[in-house]
Amino acid sequence: MLGPSGCAGLDLPINPGGMKLTESDPQKTALFTPLRLRDATFKNRVVISPMCTYSAQDGIANDWHQAHLGQFALGGAAAVFTEAAAVEPRGRITHGDLGIWSADHAAALKPVTSFISRHGALPAIQIAHAGRKASMQRPWDGNGPMDDGDAARGELPWDVVAPSAEPVREGWLMPSELSVAEIHDIQDRFATAAGHAVDAGFEVLEIHSAHGYLAHSFLSPTSNQRNDAYGGDRAGRMRFSLETAEKVRAVWPADKPLFVRISSVDSDGVTEGWQLDDSVALAGELKARGVDVVDCSSSGISGTATAAQGKQPLGFRTAYSSRIGTEADITTMVVGLVLHAAQAEQIVSDGLADLVAIGREALFDPYWARHAAYALGADPDFSDWPQQYGWWLTRREPLVREYRDA
Ligand SMILES: Cc1cc2nc3c(=O)[nH]c(=O)nc-3n(C[C@H](O)[C@H](O)[C@H](O)COP(=O)(O)O)c2cc1C
Repeated sequence: MLGPSGCAGLDLPINPGGMKLTESDPQKTALFTPLRLRDATFKNRVVISPMCTYSAQDGIANDWHQAHLGQFALGGAAAVFTEAAAVEPRGRITHGDLGIWSADHAAALKPVTSFISRHGALPAIQIAHAGRKASMQRPWDGNGPMDDGDAARGELPWDVVAPSAEPVREGWLMPSELSVAEIHDIQDRFATAAGHAVDAGFEVLEIHSAHGYLAHSFLSPTSNQRNDAYGGDRAGRMRFSLETAEKVRAVWPADKPLFVRISSVDSDGVTEGWQLDDSVALAGELKARGVDVVDCSSSGISGTATAAQGKQPLGFRTAYSSRIGTEADITTMVVGLVLHAAQAEQIVSDGLADLVAIGREALFDPYWARHAAYALGADPDFSDWPQQYGWWLTRREPLVREYRDA
């Protein structure tokens, strides 16, 4: 059964505090207070998190991406992130991943960005390289390294790369160790991808430096065993991410915000490897290089998708975002198990994060942001809805209230 917030199993009041929902007196909420970053205005603090849908052909977006991402703009989020878009073909996680390595990729994304913009949200793209976690099966095809079954369908594995010749775990593909020249080439591909993202019409760009993919695997001492300038101590292990941020910032326009998603710790609850102190240091260095927002995720250095891993407490990553935000003095976004409006409101009003990224809840309810505004009384007359809907919803509202308990 759905709670009034649109979230299964949550029994939130439709109208907390007894607000008059149909009168034009929107409640002041932290979650629906705009945020300006460079020249971009986030109309509220709700962001749709990057989520792979493995539905592209050779990295090229199609009408699936148009409808899938477009619905989140109609659903009221301030910014809508694409899934991880690979900066080169071998940087895809699966054969179905989105790419942004050519002008053709940018052209295919143009209708997506123009729809999102026209409907009041900021089109945002995450650019990524999967490193040693590339060449995988789609989750529903097995969620592991590709095998004979995939080959029989015509999906062949490809060679993967990493800071060191260390597989994710036993049975996974053995990556080849990148030379310094190859590292520079991949960093340049991130910058080239940022240029394509400008041409495609994106307003926000995020570098994926989390979840065990290439940049994270440079950060972590568990996956980076190099003893050259890109390994060794923390400064060496951070070099890949920091130089990549610099190269991207040089291409990404000065008036547009740049995010970096990090795994705040290598593995939640584990005291080895990359730790929160390291993330605070990284965030400060990223800020010095023109990064505007640190997107605080965690985990993924070993194994598959982080969201498919074990149970965690509600909103567990606010412990990371609050410390990173305070100590590195940087704007933060938190992601992970933010389920309902009152919870998101509390996170922002308590200053635990500036933006809240919504993942699976948005798959369940693409209108999560509008339903949150409704639950918090922030848009009582449906004025932020598409007018094709809002006009009708104001007339539906008295009936909803009359028959709510019927
Ligand atoms: C289907 C799916 C695909 C995902 N793909 C990406 C991705 O492309 N990039 C990324 O950084 N995180 C990805 N994630 C992680 C989400 O962005 C998010 O961090 C995670 O689901 C936790 O948030 P949630 O509890 O709100 O779902 C994915 C998660 C899901 C469920």
